Amino acid sequence: MSDAFVLDAQGVTVRYPGNPPVVAVDDVSVHVAAGETVALVGESGSGKSSLARAAAGIEKIVAGDVRFDGRPVTPMGIRRRPVELTGIQMVFQDPSTSLNPRRRIGDQIADGIRTALDRGDEGSRVEEWLERVGLNPAWTTRFPHQFSGGEKQRIAIARALAARPRLLIADEPISALDASTQTSVAALMRDLVAEVGAGMLFISHDLAVVRRIADRTLVMYAGRVLESGVTSELWEDPRHPYTRSLLAAIPEPDGLGRIPAAPSAEDRASWGNVPPIVR
Ligand SMILES: Nc1ncnc2c1ncn2[C@@H]1O[C@H](COP(=O)(O)OP(=O)(O)OP(=O)(O)O)[C@@H](O)[C@H]1O
Ligand SMILES: [Mg+2]
Repeated sequence: MSDAFVLDAQGVTVRYPGNPPVVAVDDVSVHVAAGETVALVGESGSGKSSLARAAAGIEKIVAGDVRFDGRPVTPMGIRRRPVELTGIQMVFQDPSTSLNPRRRIGDQIADGIRTALDRGDEGSRVEEWLERVGLNPAWTTRFPHQFSGGEKQRIAIARALAARPRLLIADEPISALDASTQTSVAALMRDLVAEVGAGMLFISHDLAVVRRIADRTLVMYAGRVLESGVTSELWEDPRHPYTRSLLAAIPEPDGLGRIPAAPSAEDRASWGNVPPIVR
């Protein structure tokens, strides 16, 4: 398809060995344009992380085609990726495991800057990134344990963006943060990727945040995309019964919450049979 997409994944299938094997992602297509934020939502086990890893070239696919900036992405493991693929950066759920506890945070952000330079891209200063993610630029010599969870995630975001990605893949980047910082970190990610002109694939269980930051949303269920479209249209007029059920579970703005009816077995069985809705 078009090279205008930073991510263009067509017909991706991910299967895990087992008896029977698990088809975690079943013939899914997703594209992300530069400057665009695309969200993947869906219940636990629906295949979001598997699709994200396939898009990042760290999960083998058994069918389909994944292109980053028009180039094929072949899974090679995160440490052995060719230099062009460092234009894909990732942010994961737990910043405590993605940051090295024994290295100063300034050195870790400098790794990101070096990644950009190795690719022939523009350099930048560590202090500048700390400022951009809302941290004190004088904190470069601190270690990760000297920061809160939200601050550590900001550092991980700074490191990822310092590498000047064209595509940022964020797998539940706010789930481990306390509620008061979730929205601000998500908004920060959205603003920064837009500023650098990157695209973002954003996975979250927090549908209120997805509604605020995603341009488009894909709803996954049992390895397939059941509905996709412009986020505001999807929320205003969800057409697939699974999307309706998912959106019904979002608390009301008054904070009192709406108690969603638990889906019946018949509901669940029917979702996979209702044709996917793409708009
Ligand atoms: N390494 C693996 N080996 C075998 N099965 C796996 C593996 N990773 C994931 N799965 C299975 O693949 C399916 C999709 O998992 P995946 O992690 O992609 O879902 P998810 O949508 O990210 O869920 P969550 O919201 O809980 O993170 C699940 O049935 C899961 O059990
Ligand atoms: Mg996951």
